[in-house]
Amino acid sequence: MMDRSARAALDARTVVAPDYDALCDKVAAATSDWIVRHPGSLVCLAAGDTPLPVYHRLVARQQAGKVDLSSVFYAGLDEWVGLGRADRGSCLQVMSDGFYVPAGIPLDRRRVFDGLADPVAECRAMDQWIRARGGIRFTLLGIGLNGHIGFNEPGAPDQDGSIVVDLDDTTRAVSAKYFGATLPVRQGVSVSARSLLRAETVLLMASGAKKAPIVERLRSGAPVREVPAARLLDHPGLRLFLDRDAAGSVS
Ligand code: F6R
Repeated sequence: MMDRSARAALDARTVVAPDYDALCDKVAAATSDWIVRHPGSLVCLAAGDTPLPVYHRLVARQQAGKVDLSSVFYAGLDEWVGLGRADRGSCLQVMSDGFYVPAGIPLDRRRVFDGLADPVAECRAMDQWIRARGGIRFTLLGIGLNGHIGFNEPGAPDQDGSIVVDLDDTTRAVSAKYFGATLPVRQGVSVSARSLLRAETVLLMASGAKKAPIVERLRSGAPVREVPAARLLDHPGLRLFLDRDAAGSVS
C-alpha cells in the first residue's frame, strides 16, 4: 500500500483531462515541447491504441512548424514475436503508418524490433542502438489491462536491456483487438522496465473506464510483480496522464 505522502506526491504528478481528446492534446503538447528542448536525444514510444491520436497531433504540430520530429532518435518499445510490417496490428505497422511515415522520420533516426527476426539477436541490436545514443531520455507509455508497460508482463524478468517475454493470458486475449483476428502470439520483445526507468521523463497515459481498475491498483501501490507499471511510481520524472474515465476516483 502507498502511504499518504507518497500518494500526495503521485497526485502532484497526475494530470486528469476531461476527456480523451483533451488528454491527447495534453500529451502531444508535453511530448512536442520535450522534443523541441532535447534535439539529438533518444525517445521511446509505445504503440497500442491509446497514444495513436497523440502521434497524429505530433504530425500536425510539425506541419504547423512547432516541432521538428526528426530532431530526435526513436527506439520502438516492443513487438509481437512472429509479426512483421505486413501484419495489421504489429507494432511496426501501427507505428510506421501512424507516426514514422507521416512524420517523415528517416530510417537512420529510428530502430524498431523486427518481430520476424531472431528475438534474442533483436534484443542485442536494440540495446546497441540505445547504448550508442546515450540511453532513452524520454518515453511515452500506455498501460495494459494487466498492468504491463511495453511487454513487461507481470513476473517478466527484471534485467537491463531488452527482453524476450512469454505473453500472459490477458495480453494474448487483448491482442485480437489489434489484429482484427485471433493470432497465436505467444511471445514479445520489449525494452525492459529497467531501461525505461533510466529515462529522465516518463509519460504514462491511460484512457477509458476499462483502464480505471488497473489505474486504481497502480495508484494504490500494488506490488510490481502484479502491476509492472508500479515500477515507475518512484521515478522522479513520471507524469501520469489520465482521462476522466480512466481516473476513476482520482479528482
Ligand atoms: C504497446 C505497448 C503496450 C500498450 C498497452 C496498452 O507498444 O507497449 O504496453 O501500451 O497494452 O495498450 P492500448 O493503448 O491499446 O490499450
